[in-house]
Amino acid sequence: MMRLDIITVLPEILESPLNFSIVKRAQEKGLVEIRLHNLRDYSTDKHRRVDDYPFGGQAGMVMQCEPIDRAITFLKNQRRYDEVIYTSPDGEKLTQALANRLSMSQNLIILCGHYKGVDYRIREHLITREISIGDYVLTGGELAAAVMADTIVRLIPGAIGDEQSALSDSFQDGLLAPPVYTRPSDYRGWKVPDVLLSGHEANIREWELQQSIERTQRLRPDLS
Ligand code: ADE
Repeated sequence: MMRLDIITVLPEILESPLNFSIVKRAQEKGLVEIRLHNLRDYSTDKHRRVDDYPFGGQAGMVMQCEPIDRAITFLKNQRRYDEVIYTSPDGEKLTQALANRLSMSQNLIILCGHYKGVDYRIREHLITREISIGDYVLTGGELAAAVMADTIVRLIPGAIGDEQSALSDSFQDGLLAPPVYTRPSDYRGWKVPDVLLSGHEANIREWELQQSIERTQRLRPDLS
C-alpha cells in the first residue's frame, strides 16, 4: 500500500478533492493511505505560528524551518520515504511520465508551500523534488498537491476498475484520447460516426488511432 503524507497549513482545502471518486475508492480498497498533517500542530509557538518576516526586508512572509523540520522528521521516524516533494512554481513540470514514476513509489511526502515560500534551507536539506503543476502562480500549494495526489493515485494498479481505462487516457501514449460517444446514436440529427456502430473491432481501433493522431497534430503539435 502506498502512503501519501501531505503537510499543509490548510488541510481543509485538500479534504474534499481527496474524498471522492477514484481517489476515495483507492483508499477504501487499501491501495493508498492519504494523511493530511496540519503544519501548525508542529509549531512550538504558543500562537501556533509557522511563518515569520524574511531576512532582507522584502514584503511577504516566509514559512519557518522548525515546524517543517519537526513534521518531516516525525514522519521519517516511522517509515522511509521515496521522495519529499515541495509544491513550487520553480519546480520540474508535472507530466504524465512523472506521475507514472511517482505512482510506483511506496511512500511520499508532499509539503505545500505558502506565503512567499519556505525558508530556503528546507529546500536545500530536506526536499528531494520540487514540482510545479504549470507556469502560473497559485495562492498556495494545496491545489497543486491535490492535482499531484489525484494524478498519482489513479495510476496505482487497481485504482481504476477497468485497467485499460488508465492506459487509454490522453498523454499515456503521447497521444490525445480519441472522441467518445454514447446513446442515442442520433441526437437532434447530430450523428455518431458510422464506424463506431459497425461492430467491426479492427476498423474501430484503426479509426480511434487515426483520430488520436489527427487531434494531437492539430491541437498539441508540441507533443509529437
Ligand atoms: N504553488 C504556487 N504555484 C504553484 C504551481 N504552479 N505549481 C505548484 N505549486 C505552486
